[in-house]
Amino acid sequence: MTLPILHVNVDHIATLRQARRTIEPDPVYGALVAEQAGARGITVHLREDRRHIQDRDVEVLRQVVQTKLNLEMAGTDEMVKKALSVRPEICTLVPEKREEVTTEGGLNLLGQMEHLSEVIARLQGVGIRVSLFIDPVDAQIEAAKTLKADDIELHTGEYAHAKELEGRAFQLKRLQEGARLGQELGLQVNAGHGLTYFNVGPVAKIVGLKELNIGHSIIARSVYVGMAAAVREMIALIGAP
Ligand code: PXP
Repeated sequence: MTLPILHVNVDHIATLRQARRTIEPDPVYGALVAEQAGARGITVHLREDRRHIQDRDVEVLRQVVQTKLNLEMAGTDEMVKKALSVRPEICTLVPEKREEVTTEGGLNLLGQMEHLSEVIARLQGVGIRVSLFIDPVDAQIEAAKTLKADDIELHTGEYAHAKELEGRAFQLKRLQEGARLGQELGLQVNAGHGLTYFNVGPVAKIVGLKELNIGHSIIARSVYVGMAAAVREMIALIGAP
């Protein structure tokens, strides 16, 4: 069985920098350390309000990232133009609300099929792989297929936030079934959001999962053990090379 690879989300290095509107810590530096420690991709979310990652970060990352750059973004015209100019390997379309602390759920594909189909075609037209961040719901997974997305990223937030064992087992089952359906439809299936050193194990073992996007927990641990050690520890837990 092949295990998923780790993509490190460095948004929260930028959160710390922006708290002081200064130049450190630099998410670009963090991304390079993460790659050196074995991360196989770097993920950033350029939000409309620029609360953490800035345009400069994405542009410099594009020049220096040696693995893959995954740009998470809302499907707005501004962001599509940005992606077309920066050319990340992957664009992950996510929902975005100004007042939220972080992305709060998957994208609801139903009801914006026409708009998304246009956005996806524009990005794929220049060779960018498009991933859709969705909840593990059959109708959403089937809609991703209809939209001709390359990948889906299953939202693991409900699994991560489930307090009791029973709830967690139920959410894990939803992810397993969603992953199976996605693969049957020919989509690459990834996962992320809210994953930590304590809850990543069962998700990493979901059959056929290709990539895990993990940010907050790794950056939090880096404060104590350093970025390279934090990345290595997460890779060891996932079990991937
Ligand atoms: N995947 C997506 C689509 C996200 O929006 C985020 C948060 O930016 C993550 C993964 C990473 O989540 P976390 O920071 O909780 O690991």
